[in-house]
Amino acid sequence: MSESFGDARRREKWVARTPPAGTLLCSLDDIAAPGAKGFTFGSGTDLFDMFVVRTHDKVFAYVNACPHAFTPLETFTDRFLTRTKDQILCTTHGALFNLDDGFCTSGPCAGKNLVPLAIEITEGQIRLTAQPPVTR
Ligand code: FES
Repeated sequence: MSESFGDARRREKWVARTPPAGTLLCSLDDIAAPGAKGFTFGSGTDLFDMFVVRTHDKVFAYVNACPHAFTPLETFTDRFLTRTKDQILCTTHGALFNLDDGFCTSGPCAGKNLVPLAIEITEGQIRLTAQPPVTR
């Protein structure tokens, strides 16, 4: 599914608000494998909400905004995954997303993607890094 003009504008706004490369998020050990953890920066119109997903062997990060209604995905702190921890769940209307690429496999925004964020892990610390080129 191709991205609409409105979706592209939202994506640009979020990417522009992303904290600078090098911003420390947490220690890798702070996130269960599998598990997830949310992070909020700024406030008001500068608010930036994101989350990190850890699988058994990899770590991914996304803007915390569902591509359906653009609301945060979680209802309870750090509860971004399904009960079986094999997909990301939006608790608003039940959309499901792949852990490793944020692609929505089911729900009202099926075929759309969470906005990915670039991270790196050095010496066990997860940090934001320069944004990757937007591919979807
Ligand atoms: S806002 Fe996420 S499924 Fe509706």
